[in-house]
Amino acid sequence: MGVQLPIARSLTCINDHTSGDEVVHHLNSAFLVESVQVWLRYTSSVSSQLPIRPTSPSSPTSLFSDSSHNHNSIRTTSTTVIMKVLLCGATGFIGSEILEQLVVHNYIDRVYVLTRQPLAKKYFSGPKGHKVTEIIHANFEEYPDSLLHRLRDEGVEGCIWALGGKVESYKTLEEAQRVGIHYPMQAAEACASKLATALTPSAMPKKKFPFRFVFISAWGAEQDQFRTLWMWSDSRKLKGAAEKGLFDIAEASEEVMGHRCFEVLSLRPGGVLKKSEAIGTLLWEATVPSVTVDRLARCAVKTVMEGSGDAKKKILENKDCMGDDWAMVNTLTL
Ligand SMILES: NC(=O)c1ccc[n+]([C@@H]2O[C@H](COP(=O)([O-])OP(=O)(O)OC[C@H]3O[C@@H](n4cnc5c(N)ncnc54)[C@H](OP(=O)(O)O)[C@@H]3O)[C@@H](O)[C@H]2O)c1
Repeated sequence: MGVQLPIARSLTCINDHTSGDEVVHHLNSAFLVESVQVWLRYTSSVSSQLPIRPTSPSSPTSLFSDSSHNHNSIRTTSTTVIMKVLLCGATGFIGSEILEQLVVHNYIDRVYVLTRQPLAKKYFSGPKGHKVTEIIHANFEEYPDSLLHRLRDEGVEGCIWALGGKVESYKTLEEAQRVGIHYPMQAAEACASKLATALTPSAMPKKKFPFRFVFISAWGAEQDQFRTLWMWSDSRKLKGAAEKGLFDIAEASEEVMGHRCFEVLSLRPGGVLKKSEAIGTLLWEATVPSVTVDRLARCAVKTVMEGSGDAKKKILENKDCMGDDWAMVNTLTL
C-alpha cells in the first residue's frame, strides 16, 4: 500500500492536458519517493539484525515504552535511554542471574550492587566488567546519607530487590520478618526520599522517571494479615506485608511536576527453577506455578526499565513473569 501510494497520488495529477514531459516528471518523482521508502524499509530491517541491538526483549526499543505508571501516565520515546540500576541480593540464586543479565544488557549503563559479602571476581572482568560497582553494606536496615548522596549523584534510576530467603531458613519468624519486610521497606523509603526526588519527567527521554523499585515477592503473597490461610501462611503473609508497606511508600512519595517520583512493582514467582529448556522443566512450568530463573530475571530487568506496561498493574503474577513469548515458543516445543 505504502509503495503504491506515491504513484497513485502522482497519477491523479495526470489528465488529458498533461504533456508527455509532465507525465515523465510525475512518474519520476513517484518512483523516487517509492525508492526512498523501499530503501528506508530495507535499512530498518537490516539495522534490526545488527549485533548492537539488545537481544533481550527488555530493551527499550518500543516506540512508546511507557516510562511512568503513576496515576498520571507519561509516555515517551525511550530509544536512547541508558539506565543505572541498584541491585540488592546479587549473591543469591535469583539475584546472581539478574546481575548477569543486567551486565550484558546494552541499555544498562551501570549496576550498583549493595551486598554484605564480596561478589565473585568474574563480574569485574571481561569487556563488561566496568559496569559493576560493588558496595559492601553490612546493615540493610540503615542507608547512610553518604551512600545515598553517592547513588543520587551517580544517577541511579531504579532498584531490583532480590534479597531475602525462605522463612524456614531464618532462626525465628521475627528475623525472617525483619529481613523480608523491614529491610526492603527501609531501602524503599531511602530510595523514594533521596534518589527518586532527584529525577524529573522533564529530563525524559534521556533519563528515566519515575524511579522504579522492583520487589521479588512470591506466588500467593497475602496482604490481608487477618485472613486465615491453610498453606504457607507465614511466608505468604510476610511477602504480603512487605508488598503493602512498599505500595504505601510509593503512594506517599513526593510528586515532581505532578507525577509521583517513586513506583513499586512486585513480581510474584512460584517455584523458581534452574535455567533449562528440558521438556520436564517446560511441563513443570506449564502445570505448577513456577518459572525458570532466567525468565524471571528477564522480567525483573524489563520491569525496572519499562514498568509493567499498564499504569494500574503493580503486581506481576507468575504467568506474567514467564514473559510474553513463553506460551508461543513452548506450545511449539511441547
Ligand atoms: N528461590 C525461589 O524458589 C523463590 C520463589 C519465590 C520467591 N523467592 C524470593 O526471591 C528472593 C531471593 O530468593 P533466592 O532464592 O535468590 O534466595 P537466596 O539464594 O538464598 O539469596 C538470598 C540473597 O539475599 C541475601 N540475604 C539474605 N539474608 C540477608 C541478610 N540478613 N542480610 C543481608 N543479605 C541477606 C543473600 O546474601 P548473602 O549471600 O550475603 O547471604 C543473598 O544475596 C527471596 O525474597 C525469596 O523469598 C524465591
